[in-house]
Amino acid sequence: MAPFDLIIFGGTGDLALRKLLPALFHRYVDGQIVAGTRLYGLARDSQDDGAYRARVREALQKSLADDPRAPTALEPFLDLLHYRRIDLNADAGWAELATELTDPQRVDSERVRVFYLAVGPDLFGSVGARLQAHGLTGETTRVVVEKPIGHDGASAAAINDALGHVFAESQIYRIDHYLGKETVQNLTALRFGNALFEPLWKAEHIDHVQITVAETVGLERRASYYDKSGALRDMVQNHLLQLLCLVAMEPPSSLAADAIRDEKLKVLRALRPIENGATSQLTVRGQYRAGAVEGRPVPGYLDELGRDDSRTETFVALKAEVRNWRWAGVPFYLRTGKRLAERMSEIVVTFRQVPHSIFGELAEPIAPNQLVIRLQPDEGVKLWLMNKVPGPGGLRLRRVPMDLSFAETFGGRQPEAYERLLMDVVRGNAMLFMRRDEVEAAWDWIDPIRNAWQASSDAPKPYTAGSWGPSAAVALIERDGRTWHEDA
Ligand code: BG6
Repeated sequence: MAPFDLIIFGGTGDLALRKLLPALFHRYVDGQIVAGTRLYGLARDSQDDGAYRARVREALQKSLADDPRAPTALEPFLDLLHYRRIDLNADAGWAELATELTDPQRVDSERVRVFYLAVGPDLFGSVGARLQAHGLTGETTRVVVEKPIGHDGASAAAINDALGHVFAESQIYRIDHYLGKETVQNLTALRFGNALFEPLWKAEHIDHVQITVAETVGLERRASYYDKSGALRDMVQNHLLQLLCLVAMEPPSSLAADAIRDEKLKVLRALRPIENGATSQLTVRGQYRAGAVEGRPVPGYLDELGRDDSRTETFVALKAEVRNWRWAGVPFYLRTGKRLAERMSEIVVTFRQVPHSIFGELAEPIAPNQLVIRLQPDEGVKLWLMNKVPGPGGLRLRRVPMDLSFAETFGGRQPEAYERLLMDVVRGNAMLFMRRDEVEAAWDWIDPIRNAWQASSDAPKPYTAGSWGPSAAVALIERDGRTWHEDA
């Protein structure tokens, strides 16, 4: 790959230090980032390259153990890194930056230039305008933005408008880091690289789908963001709906970015709206109370927040439905929460029961087949099948998994989502990024739920930290004669 420039606005922030720079480092270790590439961290503090590199060196220490080649690559990688002071709301620093980035002595006009806006969305407009004013928005420029893209449909549209004034849609890369996870990409491989599943992938053969993203962490250091957001906006609007799209979409004709995005968009638009009357039936929101997670006592959400009047949800469970020919009548149960019993994300596709049992009375009844796609941890795929228990006695069947563990099968380290995503931006491959209309369609479905919650006098249901969420979430699925999947 040719040398490129990657400029991170918010270069001293958490995202840059914890995710972006370690991801770039691993790509460097793998030889994908070549000499001549320039990586810039931009922020308001005054410090020189040396001080910035020292800070990044410290942030990368953890990454060194991941790969035996990493320790020797550290210093040469840091040499690619520069720090520039810039004020996002004032003119100082911009002209110098523009000169440096466009200097014909050092870069040719074809060089790919990526601006990563790791700053609040309220700044996207002014950063874009300044980049434009300094001639930095030409064809070879790409811009990356992170969630939250708005807090509702209207604010998302305003952010997209602000970006759209300056950049063509094809230059804008909206990250949903879940799409960069290996196991999420494997979902596409599994569905469309095998002839086995697709003929069964429909209401006729599938009873229901569950998507769970459970976390053990609490507020971390993000109280001011999280309390305004809550789990519906923070996780469901983006990560969980994207997973749902990948499960439910029609086969795209190719991996071309728009071929996939068109299909995902159709799914989002086919979601049955959950409006006023239905919200209390189809959604559950919860907030954690003090408890113990992984054997460690933890405070409740309100204590962590230091306020007692917040109604922000830290847990959501809901039942969605995709209104189209393929999925009519198949519920998609989604749940996500903080401070749950374990960190575990998975998609479970439960097939229908066999139409008739030839086995008569069985000690263990025939259980429906389940395909479990484990996103994290222990990435892998399990297909639960009924098998005969060996032995000469009476016929006994038992449910057992065919188990594919990524770690055992492929070995090596699993690259982090950002490694794939950042290099895709440099390559100009937008397949794993969200298009404007997708983001807005997701908000269109989320907004009525949020509004109904806000209008309701009910508070989120309490749940004990370290549990699987409020009992109402169990009731949501059990009402339909089903249960949340447990890995056994
Ligand atoms: C982020 C959310 O998008 O995803 C966080 O803002 C959440 O609240 C995180 O913790 C989860 O990501 P991962 O990759 O750890 O599952």
